[in-house]
Amino acid sequence: MEVKLLSGALGAEIKGIDLTDISDENFNKINNLLLEHKVIFFRDQPITKEQQIALAEKFGPLETHAYVKGLENYPEIVRIIKGKEEKNQWGENWHSDVSYNSKPTKAVILKSIKIPPVGGDTCFSNMELAWETLDPKIQEKIKDKKAIHSSLGAEFFIDNYKYMEGNEKRNYDSYSNEHPIVRTHPETGKKILYVNWTYTKQIIGLDKEESDQILKEIFEHQARLDLTCRFNWTENAVAIWDNRSVIHYAIADFFPGRGLGYERIMDRIAIEGDHPQ
Ligand code: SIN
Repeated sequence: MEVKLLSGALGAEIKGIDLTDISDENFNKINNLLLEHKVIFFRDQPITKEQQIALAEKFGPLETHAYVKGLENYPEIVRIIKGKEEKNQWGENWHSDVSYNSKPTKAVILKSIKIPPVGGDTCFSNMELAWETLDPKIQEKIKDKKAIHSSLGAEFFIDNYKYMEGNEKRNYDSYSNEHPIVRTHPETGKKILYVNWTYTKQIIGLDKEESDQILKEIFEHQARLDLTCRFNWTENAVAIWDNRSVIHYAIADFFPGRGLGYERIMDRIAIEGDHPQ
């Protein structure tokens, strides 16, 4: 096995592991790599939908997305589609997946189906390091507080991602939950800064003005480049991220004459998480 670190902060590209081998031994290897590097990448893995589901199920029960419809015969797979002419793409700002749920996603397995010749990389930022390097005055202020996380609602989704379908059975404007700002990783025991620019709206117990100011400082801190890594996709690549300890950002750099004019298609499977503690 070969492990190539992607940055000094997190992320590793792994060679020599077969993702279709879901024996306990191989799964433990993959899970240990995930806990160590927080996001791991594998290239040239033309796995089928069934194989992607089988691997995901080793991590735990699969999640149905709060408001995005899954594929017709594979409801657990959300197909992320950016059309040729689209500038926007799903996930185009810093976020932790569905942090507005009461039990946000544990981990995600994302497989690339179609990738533009340039543009559409994904960035990840390490929230253990973000907590450790946060200004101690802010740490002291927020360490025992909770924050409100809310989904952006149906309108934003429908307006921005026209090739993706909403799950009509659900009222997807109504997702909102409170979580500790600093959570403890259930497997490693590490402290994690658990807020994000996209979904975290207010620190409970502070007035709106102070909450906005502190969240702004935290969001800037989380986006520090020295806390991040960046993955340049190729087709049939697979990313697995620990959604508890990273935030991520799918870069929508689709500009005329360069990235614009190409589709970007990914298959996403999420594994259920627990209540952040
Ligand atoms: C996401 O935010 O879950 C999508 C990431 C990506 O498409 O790169």
